[in-house]
Amino acid sequence: MTSARIEIRPMAGSLGADIDLAGPVDDGIFAAIRQALDDHLVIHLHGLDLAPEELVALTRRFGPVSRAPYIRHMDGHPDIVAVKKTADERKVSTFGNAWHSDFSFLDQPPMASLLYACEVPSHGGDTLFANMVAAYEALSEGMRRLLDGLDAMHAGKPYGTGGVPGTIAVSRSIAIERNRPEADREVAHPVVRIHPDTGRKALFVNPIYTTRFAGMTAEESEPLLDFLYAHAVRPEFTCRLRWRVHDLAIWDNRCTLHYAVNDYDGQDRLLYRTMVQGERPVPAVPRA
Ligand code: SIN
Repeated sequence: MTSARIEIRPMAGSLGADIDLAGPVDDGIFAAIRQALDDHLVIHLHGLDLAPEELVALTRRFGPVSRAPYIRHMDGHPDIVAVKKTADERKVSTFGNAWHSDFSFLDQPPMASLLYACEVPSHGGDTLFANMVAAYEALSEGMRRLLDGLDAMHAGKPYGTGGVPGTIAVSRSIAIERNRPEADREVAHPVVRIHPDTGRKALFVNPIYTTRFAGMTAEESEPLLDFLYAHAVRPEFTCRLRWRVHDLAIWDNRCTLHYAVNDYDGQDRLLYRTMVQGERPVPAVPRA
């Protein structure tokens, strides 16, 4: 007989759920968490007190752990990135401060990411999420048909040779490699991908890593990509996650975008981040 309990409450109309946990994450509770991730795309778990190795062990229950490219992982915990900004860092660019899905320029981008709050500001430092299934489904039939057949190119732009201009100050609390020529390599992924578990179609482009549509120039691609970026983050498709210490967020990286709000200058923020390996995105319409 288990003492574990779980309560799941939707966070917003389009995506996101708050999950209160009591007791151990046994197999039954884990199955409910896994189902909640498919149902709500982003889950915000309360009531966990995780040591770094416990965060990695929980990550492994979702699938093999994958590591973020171009970012230094924690000493002694090679599967964890410490996402950090300290109170003395003001007016600096921070990690994740633009809409994106994680590392979409990889051949197999992560299926999910986990973020565990160690230190959070008293206010600010929220994370926003957008539902790319809802964004796709809200498009006209003609636009969906057009996008179903397109591929887009993705590259690790912030880490590559054209990366962040020297005039922009970046947070020194997270060690990111810059100017790496291999990060300029473009990878093609379908603009609309099928979710392997739910079978639903989701838009899969984002302003940090998508460079252009396959077979088109960046200039030709820009108007339609800009439309899609603005459409995807309409407030109706989003939710806002407010952090408390020991909260754990898990998002499905295949069908969401996220944005780390950088509005907490003068306060410390530290979260531990892990990722679950994903598959090569499957197109909505088989390619010839
Ligand atoms: C990220 O993009 O993974 C960072 C999210 C955050 O710091 O809120």
